[in-house]
Parts: sequence; C-alpha cells; structure tokens
Amino acid sequence: MPLKVYHNIIILKWLFIIFILLITLIQSISSVDPRWGHTATIINDTIYFVGGRTNDNRFTLDFISLNLAKEFPLISPPWVELDSTGMPLTSDHTAVATGINNSKIVVFGGDVDDPASAAMSSLLVYDPKLQFWNRLIISSTPTRRFLHSAVILSNQFMLIYGGEIGVETGNQNSLVLADLWGFNTSSLSGWQGFPSLANYSPGMRERHTASIIGNKMIIIGGTDVLKDSIIIYGGSSMDNITIFGDVAVLNTTYWDWAAPPTTNTPMHRFKHSATIYGANMIVAFGMISDIH
Ligand SMILES: *[C@@H]1O[C@H](CO)[C@@H](O)[C@H](O)[C@H]1NC(C)=O
Ligand SMILES: *[C@@H]1O[C@H](CO)[C@@H](O)[C@H](O)[C@H]1NC(C)=O
Ligand SMILES: *[C@@H]1O[C@H](CO)[C@@H](O)[C@H](O)[C@H]1NC(C)=O
Ligand SMILES: *[C@@H]1O[C@H](CO)[C@@H](O)[C@H](O)[C@H]1NC(C)=O
Ligand SMILES: *[C@@H]1O[C@H](CO)[C@@H](O)[C@H](O)[C@H]1NC(C)=O
Repeated sequence: MPLKVYHNIIILKWLFIIFILLITLIQSISSVDPRWGHTATIINDTIYFVGGRTNDNRFTLDFISLNLAKEFPLISPPWVELDSTGMPLTSDHTAVATGINNSKIVVFGGDVDDPASAAMSSLLVYDPKLQFWNRLIISSTPTRRFLHSAVILSNQFMLIYGGEIGVETGNQNSLVLADLWGFNTSSLSGWQGFPSLANYSPGMRERHTASIIGNKMIIIGGTDVLKDSIIIYGGSSMDNITIFGDVAVLNTTYWDWAAPPTTNTPMHRFKHSATIYGANMIVAFGMISDIH
C-alpha cells in the first residue's frame, strides 16, 4: 500500500473518531427544555428530574439526569438523556429516594391532561440501575392527587399528606385533601390509611412542605431504632385565600399529631421550601399570596 493512501486512511480514522466524540459531546451537553412542576431526586451522585411541564404547558417528554460527582459549568450542565419509556407524564407529583442504599425512586400522584391517564395508577418505581420504570397496580390505593407532600422514613415507609383532586386528576369536583397514607417501599405492597388520626391532622392543605426529623434514637428490645417525626409546614387552601403558617408534627413512633406553639412565626406562605439542617428547619422563599 502506498504510504500516502495509508496516511489518508489513518487521518480518516481519526476524523471519524473525533466526529463520534463530538456527537457524544453534543448529545450530552445539548440544552434541555425549561420545565416546572417536576421533581428532582438524588440517587448516589446523580440527580434525576422526573415529569413537569414546559413553557407551553405541555408535559415534559424527556427524562434527564445530571452527574454531580464531576465539576461542570453551570451554564451548560452535562445533561444525560435517559430512556423515558414508562416515565409518567405528569406534574406537581412527588418523588422520594428509597430502597437499600437509595436504590430506587418512588413517584406518586401528579396532575394529567386526560381521563385515560387519570385512571392509571399514579404509583411508579424507577430503578436507576436497570433504567426501568414500573407502574404498580395496588388495590385500595389513595386517590391520585397533586400538590401533596411525600416523605420517606428511615424504615423505607413513604408517607403522603394532603394535596388536591379535580379535573386534573379525573375527578368532577375539586377538593383539597387532609388524609395521611403510608406505603412500604421495601415490600412495594399495601397502602395503609390512618383514618383515626384525621381529627388531629393539620387539616386540608396543599402546596405545603413535609420534612423529616430523625434525631431520636429509641431503644426497642435491645436494638437501636431510628424513629422519625415529620413536620408539615405552610401551604394553602385551593383558592389561595387561606395561607397557612402553622407547624404540625407527626410522631411516627406513637402515630400522633402535635401542633407545637411557635414564636417569631415567619410570614405565612405556600410553594416554599423547607430544609432540615441539624436541629433547625430552614424555610425559604415561596408565595405569600397569589399576587406573588
Ligand atoms: C449498601 O452500602 C453498604 C456500604 O457501602 C454496603 O456495604 C452494602 O453491601 C450495600 N448494600 C447493598 C444491598 O447494596
Ligand atoms: C450507588 O453507588 C454504589 C457504590 O458505588 C453502587 O454499589 C450502587 O450500585 C449505586 N447505585 C445505583 C442505583 O447506581
Ligand atoms: C415493609 O416490608 C418489609 C418486608 O419487605 C418488612 O420487613 C417491614 O417490616 C415493612 N415495614 C413497615 C414499616 O411496615
Ligand atoms: C393559587 O396559586 C397558585 C400559585 O400561584 C396558582 O397556580 C393557582 O392557580 C391559584 N389558585 C387559584 C384558585 O387562584
Ligand atoms: C414521640 O412521642 C413520644 C411520646 O410522647 C416521645 O417519647 C418521643 O420522643 C417522640 N419522638 C420524637 C422524635 O419526638
């Protein structure tokens, strides 16, 4: 083979490799649609963005993640497009990380645009390792809702509270809910309702936050069991006329609600964030009326 041709082949080979690299690069850094009403859940060092709506109010069709372990330019995060087959097209749902070593994401509820979707189970599990969505069909399930809250206890029990039903969830009338439900995300079976707690609950609300405080070690039969409490804070009524500023604490050892008195109460709000840092709950931003 003449040397020249041989060189050309090598150059072509390199050009091809560079081309493939570029394609891969473009695929991983291409910008994604802006979105709202989605959830963001961290598993290991990866954050998974599920659902939500884009600017034209349509459901987000892409399922994206972001690896937080490597540094990246904030202006162009290296989004990873995942296979979105089976991802729920919904917004204002909840998602929690659960399983041994946080090995799965459990999604519940969310609003939809059509009755057929509303009739489908709104309880889904994503396995990041298998990259697989599974829609669970479970009898006596709490009704599909949106703008509710969900937390996961250290024993992998998921608790959901409140939210709203309406045409967005396949119901004729709109209603704000006040019910508490638990789901064992370890066995992935059996919802548990807590009707007896209803009278003491913080009542009907949506757009509130629920936070876990798991700082009590209770000794049961010689083993240390970490028991959590949950703080429900803020939120609103459906018409946004009532905006809440109270704190309700659910003790999951004794399953009772308490309304501890608070001083220096911040302005009542909804659609805020609440983050537990040590013994403090950091409440930030949110809305204080519909006229933001
Ligand atoms: C969970 O993580 C711990 C610590 O890294 C490891 O020892 C254990 O094997 C993991 N368990 C499973 C089921 O992956
Ligand atoms: C999380 O990281 C651990 C340790 O590297 C690994 O064993 C596990 O498979 C990872 N889990 C997922 C869901 O990627
Ligand atoms: C959840 O189910 C597992 C069986 O997979 C069981 O061992 C555990 O006690 C259950 N947890 C709760 C809180 O009911
Ligand atoms: C309440 O406020 C939220 C957030 O601004 C808004 O999306 C919703 O439409 C409002 N509801 C009513 C009934 O005004
Ligand atoms: C739950 O309530 C019991 C009984 O009042 C109390 O002993 C325990 O400390 C509470 N748990 C938390 C985490 O506050």
